[in-house]
Amino acid sequence: MKRLGVNIDHIATLRNARGEFHPNPVYAAKFVKKAGADSVTIHLREDRRHIKDTDANKICSINNLLVNLEISTNPQIVNIALKLKPDFVCIVPENRKEITTEGGLNLKKNRIKIKKIILKLKRNNIRTSLFINPSLNDIKISKELEVDCVEIHTGRLSNLIKLKKNYNFEFNKIKKCSMLANKLGIETHAGHGLDYKTTKILTKISEIKEFNIGHFIIGESIFYGLKKIIKNFKKIIK
Ligand code: PXP
Repeated sequence: MKRLGVNIDHIATLRNARGEFHPNPVYAAKFVKKAGADSVTIHLREDRRHIKDTDANKICSINNLLVNLEISTNPQIVNIALKLKPDFVCIVPENRKEITTEGGLNLKKNRIKIKKIILKLKRNNIRTSLFINPSLNDIKISKELEVDCVEIHTGRLSNLIKLKKNYNFEFNKIKKCSMLANKLGIETHAGHGLDYKTTKILTKISEIKEFNIGHFIIGESIFYGLKKIIKNFKKIIK
């Protein structure tokens, strides 16, 4: 069975837009689990633009909820992750000016730093993952780094599909990387820019065991909730 991880960062984005308490990401984490998600993903960014330390603290203490914490290689953030002890950590690149995670890690450049972080996380029984571009070389480096999983950045594939362009080359790259990772004993995950169509296409790659999806799920759920909320208000004011 393939697993679905739901990224709830943008619940916090919406909450922060008002600077108040609603919608509450902690409640969202519990809600998402009840709705059938296999895990919840949160990204504690260096600039704390969505998930805050108190959110991460509370979410990581929810019983029977698998939490996937995304972190950069910043030592302070790594120390926080070690204290929070989430079930999973996915190391991602971070750039303050970006709107979202724009690509995978530069493993070649950051090999030593990342290896040390993986070791620390593993000593704390945390499942480790690296967010990488679909590159065979990065899969080979991931093996050297002894990481448990890789999450392949699917942003480019998603864009090609959404723009109705030929995506065969990008799809085959992801497939080859997933096959090599599998052969080397690394579990493959996929994430970024996924919607129904792109996810469906990626399910053809049997080696992909987990999908981590955020923006589309949160955005699309608005349209499934609006009707009910409007009806509730019409009842209240009638
Ligand atoms: N996986 C990783 C590692 C990410 O950084 C992100 C974006 O925060 C996602 C998955 C989810 O991407 P999206 O919000 O586009 O579904």
